[in-house]
Amino acid sequence: MIRVAILISGGGSNMVRLVEDMAGDHPGRPCVVVSNTAAAGGLAKAAAMGVPTVVVDHRAYPDRAAFEAAMQAELRRAGAEVVCLAGFMRVLTPDFVALWEGRMINIHPSLLPRHKGLHTHQRALDAGDTEAGASVHLVTATLDDGPVLGQARVPVLPGDTADTLGARVLAAEHRLYPAVLRQFLRELSGV
Ligand code: GAR
Repeated sequence: MIRVAILISGGGSNMVRLVEDMAGDHPGRPCVVVSNTAAAGGLAKAAAMGVPTVVVDHRAYPDRAAFEAAMQAELRRAGAEVVCLAGFMRVLTPDFVALWEGRMINIHPSLLPRHKGLHTHQRALDAGDTEAGASVHLVTATLDDGPVLGQARVPVLPGDTADTLGARVLAAEHRLYPAVLRQFLRELSGV
């Protein structure tokens, strides 16, 4: 079984879907959920599912390197072999990314390479896009830039707001991320 750490900053709905999926013949098991804020609603959800949780509050560290060293210590303590970013809202340094090269994946709420960064749904609307969606990609040193492992597409509908479009994309994320993680771990374990 491949030990999977999940990093969150918020509600953790994608994290919940990943944990739910990691059962039975799934090649992975969740080993820890790490949040950079104690306010993340996902922490209680992880605990309720029996997954160990840790808060590494970025504000408690003098710089990114110190914050990431503390996260790395927690990931090692948990025996993590793969890291899933699931609504984790801190930018990671190239040094940290290098520690997890080929073993860290992220979900981003747009059809990459369109709309890297924040406010993706509003930007899709402003651009007049007729289609939106989500991407799971390998994390590389450049933000939202690594090789795409899978995408889910949804239509942009007349009258959509960032909220209505975001809800449609999030529902698609909940199908996409577990499917991509399964396949990614199968390939890692040579199955
Ligand atoms: C998701 O839409 C995810 O794609 C996005 O944050 C949301 C987290 O929701 N991630 C990013 O914007 C990363 N830059 P969740 O906490 O309910 O999974």
